[in-house]
Amino acid sequence: MNKEIEAAFNDHLNAELHSSYLYLSMSNYFAAQSLSGMENWMRLQADEERAHGMKFIDFINERNGRVILQQIDTPKVEWKNALEAFQDSYDHECLISSKIDKLVDLATKHSDHAATAFLQWFVNEQVEEEAAAQAIVDKLRMIGDQPMGLFMIDAQLAGRKPEEDSNE
Ligand code: FEO
Repeated sequence: MNKEIEAAFNDHLNAELHSSYLYLSMSNYFAAQSLSGMENWMRLQADEERAHGMKFIDFINERNGRVILQQIDTPKVEWKNALEAFQDSYDHECLISSKIDKLVDLATKHSDHAATAFLQWFVNEQVEEEAAAQAIVDKLRMIGDQPMGLFMIDAQLAGRKPEEDSNE
């Protein structure tokens, strides 16, 4: 495995694990607010992010690279309200998308077609992740300060189930 790609993939798997940590922190913020649907949604998102990190670990190992785990940054722990937390989630996904795009550029520069093909799954996944967070932000904006609206969206997010196949 090209050393520059190996280092960049190691950095990125840390970013995915940090995403997991951030969403776990948001999940616990919502637990403290008794918003159990949002707690559920964020906890499942944290699980997905960990699975994303594992995909990078498996790929590096399959390509005879070396996985070097790094320190995971402490996540933010408090938010003003649900809207601010989900807005942070959307902004974070946009940041991850830009990191994935840079990895694709790097893989292309080195003509690493296996890495490019691997990364394509993440390119598509980021479209879904940004859209999912944006949809919740839009609804929370519409709801504003109305408690009934907040209860309704919390009940809706309680319905999120774990994904059966981590490739989806
Ligand atoms: Fe794995 Fe939400 O980026």
